Amino acid sequence: MSDVTYDLVVIGAGPGGYVAAIRAAQLGLKTACIEKYPTLGGTCLNVGCIPSKALLDSSEHFDHANHAFASHGIKATVELDLPTMMKRKDGVVRDLTRGIEGLFKKNGIERVLGTARIAAPGAVEVTGPEGTRMLHAKRILIATGSKPASLPGIAFDGRRIVHSTDALSLPEVPKKMIVIGAGAIGLELGSVWRRLGAEVLVLEYLDRIVPGSDLGTAKLLQRALEKQGMKFRFGVSAKGATVEGETVTVEVAPAAGGDATTETCDVLLVAVGRRPYTEGLGAAEAGIRMDARGRIEVDAHWQTSIPGIFAIGDVIAGPMLAHKAEEEGVACVECMTGLPGHVEYGSVPGVVYTWPEMASVGMSEEDAKAAGREIAVGTFPFLANGRAKAMGERDGHVKIVADAKSDRILGAHIVGPRASDLIAELVLAVEMGASSEDVARSFHAHPTLPEAVKEAALAVAKRAIHI
Ligand code: FAD
Ligand code: NAI
Repeated sequence: MSDVTYDLVVIGAGPGGYVAAIRAAQLGLKTACIEKYPTLGGTCLNVGCIPSKALLDSSEHFDHANHAFASHGIKATVELDLPTMMKRKDGVVRDLTRGIEGLFKKNGIERVLGTARIAAPGAVEVTGPEGTRMLHAKRILIATGSKPASLPGIAFDGRRIVHSTDALSLPEVPKKMIVIGAGAIGLELGSVWRRLGAEVLVLEYLDRIVPGSDLGTAKLLQRALEKQGMKFRFGVSAKGATVEGETVTVEVAPAAGGDATTETCDVLLVAVGRRPYTEGLGAAEAGIRMDARGRIEVDAHWQTSIPGIFAIGDVIAGPMLAHKAEEEGVACVECMTGLPGHVEYGSVPGVVYTWPEMASVGMSEEDAKAAGREIAVGTFPFLANGRAKAMGERDGHVKIVADAKSDRILGAHIVGPRASDLIAELVLAVEMGASSEDVARSFHAHPTLPEAVKEAALAVAKRAIHI
């Protein structure tokens, strides 16, 4: 047993936990961070955001070489080297996770390898390669994240029926991949394998892709993905799947009820969401209150029902996003030290890194109408943007939803090239309470993609120039 009492023990080194640990160290707290895997960075760096984006970037190059180079006057013979593509992805992950080790050292954070269990408020038992030890802490921060959700009747086997982690490392390109779920994971990883040569069919329970996002904008993305060859079946639910040899047979029933039919493929990717992860943590035994979906309940300062124990990130309510976990980590630790930590949940951006990308912030047109807001909407297509034209990008738009009276921007929704970067300006606009006039009157360098943002802001007052 160690005699040290830490000011803060963080459980989990994902983007929530490791960022909170760094902020705590900056604020002078003696901090330890427990992680059960040998690499830091959690889901995001090891099996989430980073490896998926590495494969999206690589597969996009392959796709461009196959389909876009010719129109630029470049003749190329292209061949896929999947092992090298995977090695590159693993290298990107390795460099970034090692980078966090460096940040921990620089900030004097003690890294503890092992699985944590809350023994009592202020006491965390860690079981690792060197046995079991107890850490004492004035405060505990739970940042244990989430794991892929499964469906009844569909058991993962890691080869033919897979979740996102397996789909980041398939040994060969499937001939046909069926994806269950048209959310971010299904569309991103479906895109990767489609670009590399797989036929991809997405089965979705609802009647649309990316539920919760602005409908008109999601429709544009759906159309663009369909043009690329991705197929969709909406209003269906996968009821079961069996593997025989190299073939997976999926039982597909109408969501509204009725007879099931079958579809076959050689890889089935189940991407129907993620569940909060608290297994073995001892949270329930410690009396920490959870909601019906297994998420840890917290108050406005991210404190659980047990004083001195806090929780952030995927393991609590809210969007399961790395930047949301990070902001909560920072704000939670700041509140612990008496600073006014705050997270503006109304301006959390959401991005789907397909090509074109989809990015949004704030209220969709449907949300705003449902809330009884009187709105003015401005849209501008990339077809009319000079830089997009030069790039050969024709799909998508920028859409700004503003309050009709005050002109304050309530939400913004983009499908288009580098939407993930373009949304940053509008996140700041929503956060700062800016009006569409503010954005419209700001300089936007010419010729750039952000000019489409300016034009959409002008379009709110029906005075776009280039359309
Ligand atoms: P996690 O990152 O899940 O980290 C939790 C850590 O806690 C893990 O390392 C785990 O091993 C550790 N842990 C759990 N229990 C214990 C225990 N008892 N003892 C010790 N350690 C423990 N989000 C985005 O914003 N952008 C993206 O582009 C994006 N892409 C994604 C792509 C994929 C394929 C997936 C699966 C997710 C993606 N996400 C993305 C979501 C993002 O990864 C999560 O929202 C984010 O990682 C949550 O951070 P976290 O710190 O709450 O938890
Ligand atoms: P999701 O919740 O975003 O989407 C799941 C989809 O599956 C929904 O459209 C749902 O209607 C559908 N579905 C559920 N059950 C079904 C069934 N039986 N049959 C057919 N369809 C069914 O979950 P996803 O894509 O797995 O992502 C998990 C989390 O990871 C999300 O919270 C997401 O925010 C995060 N993530 C974020 C990324 C990003 O920011 N770019 C990338 C990848 C993941």
